[in-house]
Amino acid sequence: MTNATSLLDDMPPPIRSYTGPQIALGDLRPLTIGNVPIGFPVVQAALSGYSDGPMRIVARRLGASYTLAEVMIDRFVLELKQRRRTRHRLLVTDEEHPVGGQLMGSDPADFGPAAKKLVEAGFDIIDINFGCPVKTAVGGCRGGYHLSQPDVALEIVSRTRAAVPDHIPVTLKMRRGLDDSDESRERFFRILDGAFARGVAAVTVHGRTVEQRYVGPSNWDFLREVKQHAGAKTIIGSGDLFTAQACLEMLRDTGVDGVSVARGAIGNPWIFEQVRRLAAGLPQLEPDVSEQRRVLNLQCELCLQSTEESQTLSTMRMFGIKFARMHSHHAEVRSAFATARSVAAWREVLDHWYS
Ligand SMILES: Cc1cc2nc3c(=O)[nH]c(=O)nc-3n(C[C@H](O)[C@H](O)[C@H](O)COP(=O)(O)O)c2cc1C
Repeated sequence: MTNATSLLDDMPPPIRSYTGPQIALGDLRPLTIGNVPIGFPVVQAALSGYSDGPMRIVARRLGASYTLAEVMIDRFVLELKQRRRTRHRLLVTDEEHPVGGQLMGSDPADFGPAAKKLVEAGFDIIDINFGCPVKTAVGGCRGGYHLSQPDVALEIVSRTRAAVPDHIPVTLKMRRGLDDSDESRERFFRILDGAFARGVAAVTVHGRTVEQRYVGPSNWDFLREVKQHAGAKTIIGSGDLFTAQACLEMLRDTGVDGVSVARGAIGNPWIFEQVRRLAAGLPQLEPDVSEQRRVLNLQCELCLQSTEESQTLSTMRMFGIKFARMHSHHAEVRSAFATARSVAAWREVLDHWYS
């Protein structure tokens, strides 16, 4: 099924290190994606602008069993050089495995070479984005746009599957359609069935349409229907997972094999441990300010190891603002992070508000 280069064929299977809390699964079934054992069926979504290496490592240490890097445009991956400003985009550390790399693009011919580059960089799973609703993506015939053209979408799947070694699963991320029309629904199922027939190992479904963007709820009834339709094939659900309770409810109410936490993990990486504890019937733990400080500090140090100080500052300002929601003085903390002009000033915010 593959025409991968010998370099890729010779690569040993990736190291699987899990460093998060070891808590029993409760009544949940462990998740597997192709030949990659994931375990706890609650994973961290690809999050553009957020799920860089440091965020992924933090999520792993706090219980995420699998994380995905933010989406990358295939041509960007092909042109990516070892420049200081961009090289972190392809950086995968040992402790992250298994980790997914996600591609988005318009031309099927670009996906294979870009996917190979992600495999060479160390990503264990290649995910294809057929969901992004952003104007520039849809206008550029990328992301969610492909839900309107099943033949092109399936050509992308075939080319990607053929380009990467057999031991690397290829997966899809889809919204439930372009819009609410019957044609859109029919195209969704054509792509879903066609993708599984071409060897895709799992499909993550976000229960909103592209047209809907983020307005209104994610349709969990649709997720249930997709899982019933897919039978033994692996379906991961997405949409409106803001609490540990919601993660368990989606798993139990829709029957999906796994759930993908997105906005619910931005500023609350503890959600993974919270859902593990809830599933195991253990009492809930809320992170106090010293735990919040520890994790913010860790993420900042990890950022400094992989990016320049100016980039670390803008990333950690953004995360600080998100974490501030948990703080009892959230408005003041938020504004203190937002106005930090150096990493040293950002650390002073921690000293002042998180002591
Ligand atoms: C800021 C942001 C960035 C996102 N980036 C990506 C991405 O890179 N790739 C992707 O497949 N989905 C992306 N998504 C979609 C999420 O993975 C998820 O499907 C969606 O947010 C629904 O889940 P939620 O309602 O629980 O947030 C993004 C969502 C947000 C809010």
